[in-house]
Amino acid sequence: MRAPLVDGFGRVHTDLRLSLTDRCNLRCTYCMPAEGLDWLPKPELLTDDELVRLVGVFASMGVRTVRLTGGEPLLRRGLPGLISRLSELDLALSLTTNGVGLERQAQALKDAGLKRVNVSLDSLRPERFLALTLRDRHEDVLEGLAAAKAAGLEPVKVNTVLMRGVNDDEATELLEWALAEGYALRFIEQMPLDPQHGWDRGTMVDADEILEVLGRDHVLIPVESRGSAPAEEFHVDGGPATVGVVGSVSRPFCASCDRLRLTADGQVRNCLFARDESDLRAPLRDGATDDELAERLRVAVAGKRKGHGIGDPGFVQPDRPMSAIGG
Ligand code: 5AD
Ligand code: SF4
Repeated sequence: MRAPLVDGFGRVHTDLRLSLTDRCNLRCTYCMPAEGLDWLPKPELLTDDELVRLVGVFASMGVRTVRLTGGEPLLRRGLPGLISRLSELDLALSLTTNGVGLERQAQALKDAGLKRVNVSLDSLRPERFLALTLRDRHEDVLEGLAAAKAAGLEPVKVNTVLMRGVNDDEATELLEWALAEGYALRFIEQMPLDPQHGWDRGTMVDADEILEVLGRDHVLIPVESRGSAPAEEFHVDGGPATVGVVGSVSRPFCASCDRLRLTADGQVRNCLFARDESDLRAPLRDGATDDELAERLRVAVAGKRKGHGIGDPGFVQPDRPMSAIGG
């Protein structure tokens, strides 16, 4: 066991977002252009062996939870095999997915050691889903959610990004649907990560507005003990069921951030909005020892900035879009 990953502000890093691919089978308008992006060439992607080795180094430095992301992580070949290898490292493994194809894979993922899933869904209306994602896969996502629940990948969380004039009229409907289905819904503020650079603070549907709208029909009581979790959770109507709001922009949680990211091509990012990355792939392929990789990682974490700075006059969006960073 090595010393923990502490940055210059005393934040200890125990959570890793591991991107398994930058590819996706949907084209969410706020994430990707219709034609897709320039995908990473296969030789640049970390192999399963490389991933397992690097995650082992992270784990030796105190990382305890790993969330598999993309692009769309279900597109990674041999995913159950990778999950079972990673779960041997004594990590809590979860997965963020768009839900397409989850119906087929849910049980195998659970059997391999996956604990939980977060499924992204921005609309309950098939025609609106099509307009938002450019793919007619709404039914697949609903089936994927049901399969995740049946497989015991619980709590099944649903992530929704509300956009003004697009789906912001569905907040209450989505909540009531999630309550009825037994899914834990979380609304995520849209962040400036879109490849089109079209994000606008002024039109963003923020946490205050979401809570105000939900509060018209439901009683929301804050859940105590948020810890480092990005979502603020609320009990709904006095029940055990909760709804979450992730106010990344209007209520930043950078001060308690414990997260690190590793892109599918082996670059460490100490923040979603980091301007630079630390390459672990090159040293790994050049024969670096685990100690040398750990030292690189320690330096990458040490240089983490205090906050994302969205809203600062000098804020610049990261070069890579969300799909290439890992949600
Ligand atoms: N802001 C907030 N959330 C986003 N996602 C993708 N792009 C953005 C953005 N710009 C969400 C997806 C999914 C998760 C991986 O990230 O909807 O839930
Ligand atoms: Fe794919 Fe997720 Fe981007 Fe949608 S938000 S295009 S599902 S990576």
